Amino acid sequence: MNDVVLACHQLAKTYQDGERTVEVFNNLNFTIQAGESVAIMGASGAGKSTLMHLLGGLDQASGGQILLKGKDLSQLSANKRGQLRNQHLGFVYQFHHLLPEFSALENVMMPLLIGKSGKNEAKQKATAVLEQVGLAERLTHRPAQLSGGERQRAAIARALVMQPDCILADEPTGNLDEKTAQSVMDMLLALNKANNTALVLVTHDMAIAQQMQHIYELRMGDLHQYQEE
Ligand SMILES: Nc1ncnc2c1ncn2[C@@H]1O[C@H](COP(=O)(O)OP(=O)(O)OP(=O)(O)O)[C@@H](O)[C@H]1O
Ligand SMILES: [Mg+2]
Repeated sequence: MNDVVLACHQLAKTYQDGERTVEVFNNLNFTIQAGESVAIMGASGAGKSTLMHLLGGLDQASGGQILLKGKDLSQLSANKRGQLRNQHLGFVYQFHHLLPEFSALENVMMPLLIGKSGKNEAKQKATAVLEQVGLAERLTHRPAQLSGGERQRAAIARALVMQPDCILADEPTGNLDEKTAQSVMDMLLALNKANNTALVLVTHDMAIAQQMQHIYELRMGDLHQYQEE
C-alpha cells in the first residue's frame, strides 16, 4: 500500500540575492510515509530550513515537484495550497511564531477557525489539545506570559489541533533546556505512535535525532543516510 504523505522529486532551490546566485539544491529527493519519523541534520547553511519551507508549501521551489497526499503543490492555486497545508500539515519552529496579542487558547483555535470550524467546536478541541500538552492552567495566558517551554508546547498544540498527517518541525527544541526539550520530544513521539503522524524534524542534537527512525544529513545539496564517524 502506498502511504506516502509527503514527497519531493528533483527539488531545486536557488536564491537570487542581487548579483549573487545561491544554489541550495538542484536535485533533492525525499519521501515520508504515514507513521515514519525522520531527523534531518546538517551544517548551518546546508539548506535544512529551506527544505522545510518548500516541503510545507511556504516558499516556491525553483524546480521539481512536491507532493502532499499525492497532490502537486505547484499545480494548485495559492488558496487550494493553503487549504491542503492547513488540513494535512502541522508546523513547529524554533521560534514559535505564536501571535503575541492572542491567548494560548486563541492561538490554538486559529487553524480550526481558518478551517471553517464553528467557534464552540474550535474552543473545545483547542482546550483538549492544550490539556494534552499540559497547559490546561494556561489557556488565557498570552505568549509573553508563558515560559519558553510552555510557548513551545502551545506551538505544538497549534500544530496538532488539526490532526495533521505530518508534522514539520524545524529545531523545535533548539532553544529549550534539556529536560524541557525531552518533554517536547516525548509529546511528538507519542503522537507519532498513537496517531501515525509522520514526523520530519530538523535538529543539531544527536541525542534528539537518535529518537527518530531515520537520520539523514543534508550535505552538498542532497540527503545522505547519516554515518557515524
Ligand atoms: N532569502 C534568502 N536569500 C538568499 N539566500 C538565502 C535566503 N535564505 C537562505 N539563504 C541561503 O541559503 C542557504 C541555506 O539556508 P537555510 O536557512 O536553509 O540553512 P539551514 O540549514 O537551515 O541553516 P541553520 O542550521 O543555520 O538553520 C544559506 O547559505 C543561506 O545563506
Ligand atoms: Mg535553519
